[in-house]
Amino acid sequence: MSDRRSELGAKIASRQARVGVIGLGYVGLPLALLFEERGFTVTGFDVDPRKPEALARGESYIRHIGRERVAQAFKRGRIEATTAFDRLAECDAILVCVPTPLGRHREPDLSYVRKTADEVAQRLRPGQLVVLESTTYPGTTREELLPRFEARGLQCGRDFFLAFSPEREDPGNRSFNTQTIPKVVGGLDPGSLEVAVALYRAAIDSVVPVSSPEVAEAAKILENVFRAVNIALANEMKLVLEQMGVNVWEVIEAAKTKPFGFMAFYPGPGLGGHCIPLDPFYLTWKAAEHGVWARFIELAGEINTSMPQYVVERAAQALNHHAKSLKGAKVLVLGLSYKADIDDDRESPSFEIIERLRAAGAEVAYCDPYIPVARAGREHDIGLASVPCTASEFARHDLLLVSTAHSEFKDKALYAGAKLVVDTRNLLAPLGVGAPGPEVFRA
Ligand SMILES: NC(=O)c1ccc[n+]([C@@H]2O[C@H](COP(=O)([O-])OP(=O)(O)OC[C@H]3O[C@@H](n4cnc5c(N)ncnc54)[C@H](O)[C@@H]3O)[C@@H](O)[C@H]2O)c1
Repeated sequence: MSDRRSELGAKIASRQARVGVIGLGYVGLPLALLFEERGFTVTGFDVDPRKPEALARGESYIRHIGRERVAQAFKRGRIEATTAFDRLAECDAILVCVPTPLGRHREPDLSYVRKTADEVAQRLRPGQLVVLESTTYPGTTREELLPRFEARGLQCGRDFFLAFSPEREDPGNRSFNTQTIPKVVGGLDPGSLEVAVALYRAAIDSVVPVSSPEVAEAAKILENVFRAVNIALANEMKLVLEQMGVNVWEVIEAAKTKPFGFMAFYPGPGLGGHCIPLDPFYLTWKAAEHGVWARFIELAGEINTSMPQYVVERAAQALNHHAKSLKGAKVLVLGLSYKADIDDDRESPSFEIIERLRAAGAEVAYCDPYIPVARAGREHDIGLASVPCTASEFARHDLLLVSTAHSEFKDKALYAGAKLVVDTRNLLAPLGVGAPGPEVFRA
């Protein structure tokens, strides 16, 4: 066994290893906190200086990661956050959690990964373990990170160690957290796998070693493709059954009583978040390089991306039913974040719905207790702030459009004076909202 490997293994076992986490967002921050809580000394790195500053003050900028947890960790003094990338040299293990978005033409944008790999390569020293956690296509760790590190004259598996381990963070999930979600790990070589597994076992309940980084990279993409395809199927069932006058939500509840061979997925206003709408296209892009067309995935993307348009058409039909047009209608969109009870609005379909409603001449407002002000994103800048979540506000609008099933919207009294609702989440039927109250249209 190489000296470096046993030295690093011993440091991990004794909690003497310093863990660096690059990218302190939805994935990196809870990971950094977890390693601190399990007794490691941790340095977090981010290019955005506001993040280390907020953390040093004991503040959390992610709502579901409580202020108390951050404050306690930073008070103990074993964790710090910085923008000073020279301090990467101090770290024994470096976990990379930077964004992997899509470019303007839906191609993978690996610029964050490449920039980070360059930062690490500049400071790479013998005895370090580097793990990429950002979601990406199979081959990224070997093709993008390895050559940059080997260019320093160091050998992988002997001088330094390299692995891929996909992050499976599910913000807002009350049943699973960073520690209890099993962690898949693939190393570039047996030594890299061994030290990476040892590191994660020190903090995470269940670690699943696989034979290569490519398997680990592809496993993550498969998980997200699985969701995207099944959501597309649920959306297609919605379109088909709605034409037949059958309630898709009731159908899914019935089908889900089968104790085997069925898993419930639900229709909605379109995909959102940093993963499901984007990650499948990392694979289709890479597949094309190999002359393979991932038609199933593309079709799922086509169905899912057509949902905001469908929702707006349903809104027009609903208003028409009340002898009104979208043009000039006051529409209140309920929910800007992409899923219930979290403050993450990335890729949220609500943005496209709002823009389409506006393009049709509607006067649009939104209500989201989790997002008081809509920030400008890469593609959208709606320039709105949330209206209060009150019955009088709901009554002021011609149409309410439920886009996110936040718990705050599950209060029947809010809809007492509402006139018309388009519900993309089946939020209102279970509450018993409807005749004699507002007319509710499913979408
Ligand atoms: N959010 C999720 O639920 C989730 C779940 C599983 C996997 N992922 C994957 O994890 C990765 C990170 O996602 P996220 O949701 O945490 O993103 P995020 O945008 O919340 O956080 C990324 C952080 O990286 C920082 N950053 C950007 N460029 C940097 C650089 N060059 N050096 C250092 N820091 C940099 C940003 O300032 C930000 O704080 C992505 O690949 C994503 O697909 C996300």
